[in-house]
Amino acid sequence: MRSGHIEQSGHVPVMLDRVLELLAPVASAPDAVIVDANLGLGGHAAALLAAHPRLHLIGIDRDPDAIARATSRLAPYEDRVTIVRAVSDELPDVLRRSGHERIHGALFDLGVSSPQLDEPERGFAYSYDAPLDMRMDPEQELTAEHVVNTYPVAELTRVLRDYGEERFAARIAQAIARERARRPITSTSRLAEIVREAIPAATRRTGGNPAKRTFQALRIEVNGELAALERALPAALDALAVGGRVVVLAYHSLEDRLVKRILAARTKDTSPEGLPVPLPAHQPTFRLLTRGAELPTDEEVTRNPRSASARLRAAERIRQG
Ligand SMILES: C[S@@+](CC[C@H](N)C(=O)[O-])C[C@H]1O[C@@H](n2cnc3c(N)ncnc32)[C@H](O)[C@@H]1O
Repeated sequence: MRSGHIEQSGHVPVMLDRVLELLAPVASAPDAVIVDANLGLGGHAAALLAAHPRLHLIGIDRDPDAIARATSRLAPYEDRVTIVRAVSDELPDVLRRSGHERIHGALFDLGVSSPQLDEPERGFAYSYDAPLDMRMDPEQELTAEHVVNTYPVAELTRVLRDYGEERFAARIAQAIARERARRPITSTSRLAEIVREAIPAATRRTGGNPAKRTFQALRIEVNGELAALERALPAALDALAVGGRVVVLAYHSLEDRLVKRILAARTKDTSPEGLPVPLPAHQPTFRLLTRGAELPTDEEVTRNPRSASARLRAAERIRQG
């Protein structure tokens, strides 16, 4: 059944077996509701719905193309699915409107989807020549072209350094500023060229495509990815019933560090030190289900190279708090 879903779309959900295993105890309960905050092509969602015949799934994505694809893929389960086009940080509102304010599971499979990367005109990939777009929601105003051509050099440097962890951020930002003073930078391949020329020749020969970090940084800025996660994940944790579980797949260290920090805040005893007894209000409300971040197996990475950077963390609600 599962492989059928995968073949049908040509897309492989990342760490699917582990996601299914972690969510099985909650998904199989009567009247279970699980939120998939990054519906994408509906790969994880379809597998969850197939495995749990009574599960209700609320699927959220900000990309109308993802919504259309997932709607058609999940058509066999339409009476058990609520699909909403929204940014994940609108979760409290989405839940209120769906009539499910308490949920039993939440899945975040962060970042970009295969179609976003593979369709050149979306402008996410440095490997194709396309307009500098990178919007997950094409109705949003801010594009990568706007960031590249209008942000002051200091701001551009900050974006490249903070979101791309790019050590040559200042050099690249200055090169961008020089070029855009001559003419606007409008294409992915021109930007990739500018980045390549801006970094030292010795570095160019190592570490893959030099534009990778710049493109990641711009994508995170354009879509406000970390800001959305910073609001959406706590909102999902707040909505989970006792016994409820959250599973998060992150794809770069910034994202993963943020996930780790948000989960740590709920899984630690925050009683002031030196008290004879722990304070009930400071007791953890969640426990971690993963030790550190779990990684895909070598076999999965060979089968699906896009899973290579995945980091999975999961937690379970143990108290209302
Ligand atoms: C990695 S894909 C999800 C793939 C999906 N799990 C599957 O199996 O098909 C990530 C999806 O999340 C969406 N997305 C990313 N950030 C979002 C946000 N803040 N709010 C809503 N959707 C978001 C993207 O548009 C993309 O479709």
